[in-house]
Amino acid sequence: MRGRSNPPATIRGVTLVWVVMIGLALCLLGFLYYINPKSIEPPPRVETLTDLSNLLIRWEKHASEDSAVALGKLAAQLDRAGELLEAADHARPPPAASPCPSCPSCPACPATTASLAGAAAGAGAGAASEAALLHALATAGVQCHAGPAELWGEPLVWGSVHRTPSAAECCAACAAHAAAAARGGLEEGVNSTACNTWVHCSDKARCGDKAGECWLKHQKAGEMQLPAQRGGAGSMWTSGVVYPGDAFLAPYDKKVSLTLTFEVGAVQVTLLPDLAPTSVRELRRLVALLGPGGHCTGCRLYRVEPHFLVQGVISHPGGYVATPRNPNPPQKKIMERGLVCWAGGMGGPDFFVNIVDNAGFGDSHLCWGKVDDMALLDKIVAMPQKPKAKQNDMTFLQHELQFNMTLA
Ligand SMILES: *[C@@H]1O[C@H](CO)[C@@H](O)[C@H](O)[C@H]1NC(C)=O
Ligand SMILES: *[C@@H]1O[C@H](CO)[C@@H](O)[C@H](O)[C@H]1NC(C)=O
Repeated sequence: MRGRSNPPATIRGVTLVWVVMIGLALCLLGFLYYINPKSIEPPPRVETLTDLSNLLIRWEKHASEDSAVALGKLAAQLDRAGELLEAADHARPPPAASPCPSCPSCPACPATTASLAGAAAGAGAGAASEAALLHALATAGVQCHAGPAELWGEPLVWGSVHRTPSAAECCAACAAHAAAAARGGLEEGVNSTACNTWVHCSDKARCGDKAGECWLKHQKAGEMQLPAQRGGAGSMWTSGVVYPGDAFLAPYDKKVSLTLTFEVGAVQVTLLPDLAPTSVRELRRLVALLGPGGHCTGCRLYRVEPHFLVQGVISHPGGYVATPRNPNPPQKKIMERGLVCWAGGMGGPDFFVNIVDNAGFGDSHLCWGKVDDMALLDKIVAMPQKPKAKQNDMTFLQHELQFNMTLA
């Protein structure tokens, strides 16, 4: 029988949060140095969450407007990741207060059911915190391009002597290695071979004594592979790539035909770089990291307003799509049927498609795509809705529709 408290788990959790935060701090420092080498000062010692929070606030004050927004978001997401990690610990199987010893084979032994539910919640929260960490890194400017695969390359740091608690921290370690090289650290100074590929043994059950191994590797320019290209579905390893620049986007540079694939069919969106150049760039980046098949775990439509719009969100762990509303070219005064725009006057990741011509919105929404054939969206807007409490509430789909994205 389990004891009432579980100190080792709590200590593990706290250590994990601490290691994550320090990793992220180092990673962010490298990133800021990369974008603005002159403004950086030696950072104060970061030993607690409060120190890290103060450091972020300090950076936010000195940062340009865009970086300040990114830092603010990162701080919020770190908080969220920390909460999720704590939740993962608290969700461990509760002590069996009233075991049912009298009927060990009794089908609905409440203690067993509670333990299973607790364990499932723990696993779910663990995956959620991992996703939140990758998301935080992506917002800070480090795209982790994570996926199941064992990417090859020249090993720089061996996993047998370098372990991290999560794939996200392995990605952060790779970014920190690259930043160290760029600052002139490592053996060969700025000419050092820097990490651009990380490989983490994430599946604890299958990794055995390799669990947590974090390999930092280098793939040669021109031979770079992403996890999806390596075809590692089902691998116990999680890999990813940290690119020093945007060279990997080159094959997507001129592509404008975005396909959203739903279970009920596909919608073709023509991207409009003239109206929203940065949004189109970010969408291309996301599709590049999704790889062939374009599996986007958080992409979905959730809202339908007949005679008005269909609304959804474009989101995927490790790839955050959002751009500022301004500066961007002036938008169309009348938003035609089929125009795809970021929702709420923001820069994403929530978006909507106009079902009718809409004069009222004017310039306030940033539009980045156009759907010519609206047949499928006309069907979707008529799909069953959740009941509403009040007439004027938003209308939500009874069943949200997940979609994948590819670009041609
Ligand atoms: C890096 O390589 C270049 C070209 O080989 C060389 O000129 C330069 O001195 C090297 N820098 C360092 C710090 O070793
Ligand atoms: C998206 O891709 C994944 C992986 O291939 C697949 O399992 C899923 O069914 C796809 N979703 C849709 C709506 O096609």
